Amino acid sequence: MNSSEQPKEKLIIFDTTLRDGEQSPGASMTKDEKVRIAIALEKMRVDVIEAGFAISSQGDFEAIQAIARSVTESRICSLSRAVSGDIERAAEALKGANAGRIHTFIATSPIHMKHKLQMEPDQVLEQAVGAVKIARGLIDDVEFSLEDASRTEFDFMCRITEAVISAGARTINLPDTVGYSDPGEYAAMIKRLMNSVPNADKAIFSVHCHNDLGLAVANSLAAIQSGARQVECTVNGLGERAGNAALEELVMAIRTRQDVFPVQTNIDATHIVPTSRLVSSITGFPVQPNKAIVGANAFAHESGIHQDGILKFRETYEIMRAEDVGWSTNKLSLGKLSGRAALSSRLEELGIKFDSQEEFNQLFKRFKALADKKREIFDEDLQALVSDAQLGSEADALTLIDLEVLSKSGQAPQSKIIVSYQDKQHSAEASGDGAVDAIFNAIEKLVSSGSNLQLYSVNAVTEGTDSQGGVTVRLEKDGRIINGQGADTDILVASAKAYLNALTLMRNPGRLHPQLGGI
Ligand code: KIV
Ligand code: ZN
Repeated sequence: MNSSEQPKEKLIIFDTTLRDGEQSPGASMTKDEKVRIAIALEKMRVDVIEAGFAISSQGDFEAIQAIARSVTESRICSLSRAVSGDIERAAEALKGANAGRIHTFIATSPIHMKHKLQMEPDQVLEQAVGAVKIARGLIDDVEFSLEDASRTEFDFMCRITEAVISAGARTINLPDTVGYSDPGEYAAMIKRLMNSVPNADKAIFSVHCHNDLGLAVANSLAAIQSGARQVECTVNGLGERAGNAALEELVMAIRTRQDVFPVQTNIDATHIVPTSRLVSSITGFPVQPNKAIVGANAFAHESGIHQDGILKFRETYEIMRAEDVGWSTNKLSLGKLSGRAALSSRLEELGIKFDSQEEFNQLFKRFKALADKKREIFDEDLQALVSDAQLGSEADALTLIDLEVLSKSGQAPQSKIIVSYQDKQHSAEASGDGAVDAIFNAIEKLVSSGSNLQLYSVNAVTEGTDSQGGVTVRLEKDGRIINGQGADTDILVASAKAYLNALTLMRNPGRLHPQLGGI
């Protein structure tokens, strides 16, 4: 900043990867995985982490508690509907947090009030005010969202906003819940609201945009131009349906176009790519190669003309530097000769903690086994190893003990599998159309799950032919969708692990969806 320029206002980055992101079909995460992502978000200097929806399940409640205890720099938030039970549960989960926030919401559009809530606008207003008052009785920092704000009648939006600010809400969030708005309309709505509500100066205005029309980032940026000072977003744009505004795109747009945007963020952008990879490997949602900022091709220049230009003067074709968003932080971490101390300190740098020495010993064994097969062990390998170990140690997990596959051209592949469940080993053999099909058929002979395979994908965890293969298996049963993960240098082993992991997760009870009808 030169001395004649005004200091920029701060834009609060509110990350909801662990809440709205987890609402992506199949993206459910375990408590330990959520803690690892939360620590990565803290390192990136995200201001607020929405860690979950405490009332939705015991698992979500415990994950919020664990994050509240592990993260000290970022504010930790729990979502709650505008009812006392939800709000009290959120407050309970946040008890250990250094800084906590309750985010309570109710739908305010005519279509949601009439068909989903079956409530009159005055009842909705009364419930919203009551909820904010209860929340403020339990915590200082309360955010209120008008769900489906972009389809809400303007006069009602003003009434409810003024009332909840008076009741103590410090942040007013105006979601484009169904991704219906366009940038001009959304920006105008925010500006008009901020100019119309008499106590608007007592709150920060926030935006939360869904990507159904591919406009989530554009809408959020337009709203920032209009005065919004908090933006809700997710890593890799994960989220309900087509997802939420992508954190990496928002942050880099603001940083790259400081001539256009009147705000600055606190984000350490060098953590963007490692965090994106972590979220992708944990959720099993691969990042498309041409995805802005974090896609494998985002900084690759294929055409001769571009390469020539870049070599002469980088800025001819590059508006950001790959290293500024963390592409080069994929550093060589460890190898075959690395010992316990080196592994332990690298894991600590990655924010990975162990409950017992025995757990660490097990991981060290796995690390050595991997280092025998793979010369260089990168951070992504360690993350995959830890995920694999954590998934296998879940209570009641179906664990792969042994796998044999016979595949010969012209013959149907055969597989023989041994799986352990509750300390007993079970084996089965099957054939299939391909090697992976034979493995899945053998597993199904053991469990008869009745689920449908919706997706099978393999991605290299790192570069090189000795890379581990990260496999995602998506299963559907009775409308529930579950993603399972597995990683190994042998992709058939990774496939078996991923299928078993999906089956293990399928047995856990489902979570309550925050946007259910009724209240
Ligand atoms: O999209 C939405 O409206 C939400 C709210 C619960 C904030 O996710
Ligand atoms: Zn949402």
